Amino acid sequence: MSEIWRAVPLTIFPEMFPGPLGLSLAGKALGEGKWALSTIDIRDFATDKHRSVDDTPAGGGAGMVMRADIAAASIDAARGAMPADTPTIYLSPRGTPLTQARVRELAAGPGVILLCGRFEGVDQRVLDARKVEEVSIGDYVLSGGELAAQVLIDACVRLLPGVAGNEVSLAEESFAGSLLEYPHYTRPREWEGRAIAEVLLSGDHEKIAKWRREQAERFTKERRPDLWEKLKGR
Ligand code: ADE
Repeated sequence: MSEIWRAVPLTIFPEMFPGPLGLSLAGKALGEGKWALSTIDIRDFATDKHRSVDDTPAGGGAGMVMRADIAAASIDAARGAMPADTPTIYLSPRGTPLTQARVRELAAGPGVILLCGRFEGVDQRVLDARKVEEVSIGDYVLSGGELAAQVLIDACVRLLPGVAGNEVSLAEESFAGSLLEYPHYTRPREWEGRAIAEVLLSGDHEKIAKWRREQAERFTKERRPDLWEKLKGR
């Protein structure tokens, strides 16, 4: 029996977890033991009576920097409790952009250790010394890594066996096949003068599949010309 997939956030705001991950699909799966969450409070590794984890930046400038020694102590504690091949990720706008392909890899592994930064950043030496991977969830800046960590965890958890239930909808959705997802409709048949496309009510599965493919292509061309170019190049 293999251990269950485990997320280990390292944070100075442990109260932020599980947060939204305690509800809906991820929350239900968490309650059912299909994944596990072991949040670690970085302040537990502080060495002074104020439990401080940051200090002023060498060279001057705005903000505060998380200390290497304290961040490292929290990483080492997390690693000690996880299989050796568990990736350690620092959430940062400077990181490699998160993709569905990386999410799939992470979901297939033993879990993730997620260092959540606050302040201006983390002392670079801990990232180098502990070979920490840097991951960004998009080209915008959050006030801390916790929300980004939750995004990453959610994306992984829904791929775990027995969590999402509907394997077909997982396979068909955006990025699995690289096209954006086709539009969905349900009753009523007409709403505010807008009718559902006849083909969807025709019962002709081949025609429906063709129509959905065309819609997916249209959305992809319009909204993500970058993805569309990549697809055409294949
Ligand atoms: N921390 C702050 N902004 C972030 C982002 N865009 N992605 C990941 N972590 C972050």
